[in-house]
Amino acid sequence: MERSNYTNNLSIKDVGKNVVLIGWVAKKRNLGSLIFIDLRDIGGLIQIVVKNNINIPDIHNEYIIQVYGTVAAKKNNSIEKKQIEIIANKINIINTAETPPIVIDDKANILEEIKLKYRYLDLRRPNSKKYIIVRSKIIKTIRDFLDKNNFLEIETPILTKSTPEGSRDFLVPSRLHQGCFYALPQSPQIYKQLLMIAGFERYYQIARCFRDEDLRADRQPEFTQIDIEASFLSEGSFRKIIEKLIAEIFKNIKNFNIVLPLKTISYEDAVNNYGSDKPDTRYSLKIQDITNLFNKFAFFEKKIVKCIIIENFANKISEDDVKFVQLQAKKFFLKEFLLFKVENNKIENFYNKNNNYQIDLNKKVELKIKNNNLIIAAYGYNNKNICFGLGSLRTYFANKLNLIKENTFDILWVNDFPLFEKNQNNEITSTHHPFTRPKDEDLKFLNTNIFKVRSYAFDLVINGSEVGGGSLRIFDKNIQRKIFSILSLSEEEINNKFGFFIDALKYGTPPHGGIAFGIERLTMILCNTNNIKEVIAFPKNLSASCPMCGTPTSVDNNQLKELGIKIISKNKEN
Ligand code: AMO
Repeated sequence: MERSNYTNNLSIKDVGKNVVLIGWVAKKRNLGSLIFIDLRDIGGLIQIVVKNNINIPDIHNEYIIQVYGTVAAKKNNSIEKKQIEIIANKINIINTAETPPIVIDDKANILEEIKLKYRYLDLRRPNSKKYIIVRSKIIKTIRDFLDKNNFLEIETPILTKSTPEGSRDFLVPSRLHQGCFYALPQSPQIYKQLLMIAGFERYYQIARCFRDEDLRADRQPEFTQIDIEASFLSEGSFRKIIEKLIAEIFKNIKNFNIVLPLKTISYEDAVNNYGSDKPDTRYSLKIQDITNLFNKFAFFEKKIVKCIIIENFANKISEDDVKFVQLQAKKFFLKEFLLFKVENNKIENFYNKNNNYQIDLNKKVELKIKNNNLIIAAYGYNNKNICFGLGSLRTYFANKLNLIKENTFDILWVNDFPLFEKNQNNEITSTHHPFTRPKDEDLKFLNTNIFKVRSYAFDLVINGSEVGGGSLRIFDKNIQRKIFSILSLSEEEINNKFGFFIDALKYGTPPHGGIAFGIERLTMILCNTNNIKEVIAFPKNLSASCPMCGTPTSVDNNQLKELGIKIISKNKEN
């Protein structure tokens, strides 16, 4: 089919040139003596002008047309600020279209569910195309960079055994082994480590991952990782390669120069200063320890008291803010947040009707507190809950007060994570995953106080979002067994679930480590969107279904019979 150009590779330099374009009719305006058509192709939009001496067929929105014409300079550059338009000589219809059920326009306000139902039409919008194009360019940059650095792209199975990344598995029933299931991989973690044992030394994969977890704005049940693993590299040398990769991505996609090396914040500092293991350091609003101001009151004796201080805000906080603040307290298992205002150089009680604490700031106080500052304090015995609670308020008020610098990229590593943590059911779990290597100097605590053991784990955080997580791995089978047993796995469970892996560790395992980035999260940051669905061609909605094709759907009874499955009760009506 004849086509000479795309809309985005024509410019003012082409004025006078004869061209043939193909695209969809985005809009048609008939002014009597002239017809204007906005033509849309993969490159964007361009205006076609049809003068009344030219006969054209009857065309409507979303028809696909072929336009023969001449490039001309435009007086009014409304469409994508283009300086040119095409004066048509001939138009052919390539295909007709029915009136689409959604308006295909970046400015149209359409319910997300409807957009997802007609995603193939929604993807015609130039903006929604841009996200997918950027994603593709990121992947291309990664492939080129890793190839240049001797990483091999190797695929690992999708029908696999459960990988412990902390979520529920999606299961696939086996027809040949009735009653048995494959698990879809939450990540290729075990396989990439086995590839290191196999001697491949440098591996990567653009890997599809599946996690059955509660969805959020930056989570999908299926997503893609850039999964990387390497042998015989120290943590420092490995991170250096990854930093260069990140710098190359930002250079290629945004023409943004990242200053290397990236800064590193320990988990402990991140929690204590920012109340988060993925701190956004584009703004300060740091957490401050004010225990010594409060421990003179009997009520606070032996309790930790920490706060954030918001300048010049005591008289501006709204009832809604106060409500939000107290709701957050519950979420972080805190009794309450205390609000104080600074007046006449005193910290005065504020909104806390039942308590009456007043602190004279004339005494030696190291804090920089000024009159009319608002102090929001949390207290208790659990430092992590206090800091994470204050961290959530830090984010809330930074957004509310526009403290976040736009168009900057705050990229950092968080390291020295604890190897173990407790989950909501008070069970011991791995902070990352059970293959993460404990720090050599903390190995001694494995037998005494496991919560003191830090790991060689490192997360890459951009603008407060965890974009990547990695670590050095355990390569000693005895330590691996010990970690599984601390995680309360019985010998039998260890053998059933991970026997093959522990076996593999026996046969000369190289020291190795790796990382995985969420491609969606990286693309979101580079496209400046908060909605993960925008950067996925066919995403799921918040209830993990696809409004377009209706998945998940029930299956034919005969199919179930073949799999040896009998449905006892069904919740979802079709
Ligand atoms: P982790 O579980 O931290 O590590 O995942 C790595 C990165 O994957 C992205 N990610 C997600 N993106 C979208 N939706 C989700 N549901 C989702 N879950 C995770 C995040 C995250 O930083 N095997 C280890 C990596 C390693 O140790 O090498 C792993 O998967 O950007």
